[in-house]
Amino acid sequence: MMDYLIYFGIFLTIYTIVLYFGMNYTNMLFWKATWVPCDVPDFIIGDLEGLSRSRKLASALRETYKKYKSKMGSFCGFFMSARPVALVTDLDLAYNILVRDADKFDDRGSYHNKNDDAFAENLWNLEAAEWSVLRRKLAPLFTSEKLKTIFPLIVKIGDELKKQFAAADENEIIIEIHDLCQRYITDVIANCILGLQVNSLQDPSSEFRLFTKKYAMKSCSTWTYTLMQWKPELARRWHLTQTFDKVRDFYYRVIGGTIVEREKKKYKRNDLMTRLIELKNAKVKANRLSLDEIIVNSALFFEAGYEPSASILTYAFFELGLEQLVQNKLRREITDVLKRHNGKLTYEAMEEMKYLDMVILETLRKYCIYPYIERVANDDYITNVEDFIIFKDTKVVIPIEAIHHDSDYNERPTAFIPTRFETEKLQSRHPCACLPFGAGPRNCIGMRFAKLMIGVALIALLSEYKFDLSSKCTLVMESPKDRVLLRPEKEVKMCVQKLQT
Ligand code: HEM
Repeated sequence: MMDYLIYFGIFLTIYTIVLYFGMNYTNMLFWKATWVPCDVPDFIIGDLEGLSRSRKLASALRETYKKYKSKMGSFCGFFMSARPVALVTDLDLAYNILVRDADKFDDRGSYHNKNDDAFAENLWNLEAAEWSVLRRKLAPLFTSEKLKTIFPLIVKIGDELKKQFAAADENEIIIEIHDLCQRYITDVIANCILGLQVNSLQDPSSEFRLFTKKYAMKSCSTWTYTLMQWKPELARRWHLTQTFDKVRDFYYRVIGGTIVEREKKKYKRNDLMTRLIELKNAKVKANRLSLDEIIVNSALFFEAGYEPSASILTYAFFELGLEQLVQNKLRREITDVLKRHNGKLTYEAMEEMKYLDMVILETLRKYCIYPYIERVANDDYITNVEDFIIFKDTKVVIPIEAIHHDSDYNERPTAFIPTRFETEKLQSRHPCACLPFGAGPRNCIGMRFAKLMIGVALIALLSEYKFDLSSKCTLVMESPKDRVLLRPEKEVKMCVQKLQT
């Protein structure tokens, strides 16, 4: 038995080494053969450093974009997760891929494994044919009309957030804003989408808060992930999955439980879960959603929305603390608009706050949560420059963080200048110069909802309190190095003072 295990171990090691070097070699030849400019990765370690899910990937994308932009063609070669990908360096090509010719790039190319991990069969991961059917059913949840109906729920949680600052009514206080933003966003998404009253603002140790704080966005190990990206067929054969059983069981229990209870009591409320249950029972079969689809996708809405929205809200407070003039200008707008609406925050009132929208957009530009977005070519595609071809099945990467920080498109990119999004200036901006939510039919479905959550929190707090960076707060926001998505690494402590009326 021992001998057998040793032989098997040796075989597996040799197999992995041969496979690794073989793939690396073929990958290197891929771009060389097509004459597309590219940096050849180190043959010994390949692109292992860059491909891991760390911030190194974001800086490698930035460096490569800078190096090859305007050099030759409209994209260059890059190696990601040991796979050759086309890195777009030209905004017109980005526009064509995401919007004009979106039907030729209708898949994101994410790994999923239907047989072993049905929980990952969600809107984010599904391939084009199944994705378009699901997107058509889910898109009506996020229209302006629908969001208008849940707006009062968001405002109520904004009021709850304000209560957390009551101590500042007497004296200046120092508060850690990131944790509060996470709890606020948790409550809004849980309440408005999942139909759950988790009250994590009042009770930071509520079951939902503790579980999602620990497990949200947690996935398999980097090595497993690398294999999934590199050799998805092999990963499927090896039954590799990205969902933790604990996470799947948790969402099935809390969301599934809500659905069963609501159906039993015929309970309806002005939230998106009510609409999802209506879709489960839709008369027209083509519009119907199964129970599994509802659970899997509402869990996705939480997972995809929670961290980016909480991080952006935190970055917004941080920047407003740094830029007191911007904070004052924003507060003036909020006060003026609220006055016109008799002090009541309504959907219409928020729509009038143009400078608020600019502040949110500028935060999204400066702090680009996703460093890149991706698509896969479903056919050979001739690009607009020098007839370079993106071959069928090639993954295409659009480095949005690099674009947001390119001074050709965003002057003084490290500065926080909300007015760069003024309507008159927008006309002369390239539509792909700022893509925090992606673009085209496969863009972020929760974009409007995210902006509402962030906007309501800013209005609720800025209308009554003044925010300053505390002396304990560093002036540069660091992000954890061991993850791709941007988020504040350290506590963000702010001084908060009640405004004199
Ligand atoms: C500030 C907050 C957010 C940011 C920066 C953000 C960003 C993004 C980006 C960059 C994409 C990929 C788009 C593309 O490939 O073109 C995406 C997709 C997606 N986002 Fe968001 N997002 C945010 C909030 C939300 C929220 C609140 C939800 C849920 C309600 C959500 C749900 C999704 C889903 C389901 C997709 C996949 C859409 C599809 O493939 O059809 N996101 N998001």
